Amino acid sequence: MEEERSVNDAILKVEKAHTFIGQHHILQGISFESKADAVTVLIGRNGAGKSTALRTVIGLLPPSEGKIFFKGEEIQKKKPYEIARMGIGFVPENMGIFAGLTVEENMRVAMLVEDEATTQRLERALDMFADLRKFWKGKAGNLSGGQKQMLAIARAIVNDTSLLLIDEPSKGLAPIIVDAVIEAINQIKDHSVVVLVEQNFYMASSVGDYFYIMDDGMVVHGGIMEELVHDEGLKSKYLGISKTGD
Ligand SMILES: Nc1ncnc2c1ncn2[C@@H]1O[C@H](COP(=O)(O)OP(=O)(O)OP(=O)(O)O)[C@@H](O)[C@H]1O
Ligand SMILES: [Mg+2]
Repeated sequence: MEEERSVNDAILKVEKAHTFIGQHHILQGISFESKADAVTVLIGRNGAGKSTALRTVIGLLPPSEGKIFFKGEEIQKKKPYEIARMGIGFVPENMGIFAGLTVEENMRVAMLVEDEATTQRLERALDMFADLRKFWKGKAGNLSGGQKQMLAIARAIVNDTSLLLIDEPSKGLAPIIVDAVIEAINQIKDHSVVVLVEQNFYMASSVGDYFYIMDDGMVVHGGIMEELVHDEGLKSKYLGISKTGD
């Protein structure tokens, strides 16, 4: 018999999630999904709730209401470490690296298991980010902003992740480094589905296949990135981007 596919078609499906931080009702029933073989971007102004949405998925801020499905299984009551072991990687906004540890130590602390497959993924990450190999024995705190972001991403992809959540990787980076991060994400998407939070529209539109716009704790629009690129009205209303680019 043909199975019901509506939930399983999306690797991640968030349904009407409400999230509180303390007394504050931050996410007001957001729904979005992430299709397999695609990059989905959450965009929106400062304070829109983008980081809260990722923290809700990963179990750091469990929703008070609503459901979250990963590969068809409900995860909204699971602990962050259980969700990580199911194959969801997370690169937080502050990158989450240990400045006082070496690059090598940062990588080893990140590994959920140290097996053959992890070693292979480590080699792949170091091939992708050659500077990490170069500064392998150096303190992470001495890396440049771009190199720290590469380390943060490498720490997530060293594990067996089928879904990677990345929070504003372009933040504070020079344009040429943003291009390097775009290239890295374009490589990563061959191995893992990516949900990206971004305010940098150049980056969002360079890697994104689908978008959701968040505003004031709600998802106000969603669709195909190609369409948003040409929708001057939406871009100016929610993203503060004018046609002249200023
Ligand atoms: N620890 C906290 N305590 C109280 N309110 C918080 C806390 N963290 C976030 N908020 C509030 O939650 C809302 C959403 O914040 P969130 O960090 O998710 O936004 P964001 O879209 O990621 O913004 P940015 O683009 O600045 O990173 C904001 O109004 C913010 O002030
Ligand atoms: Mg944020």
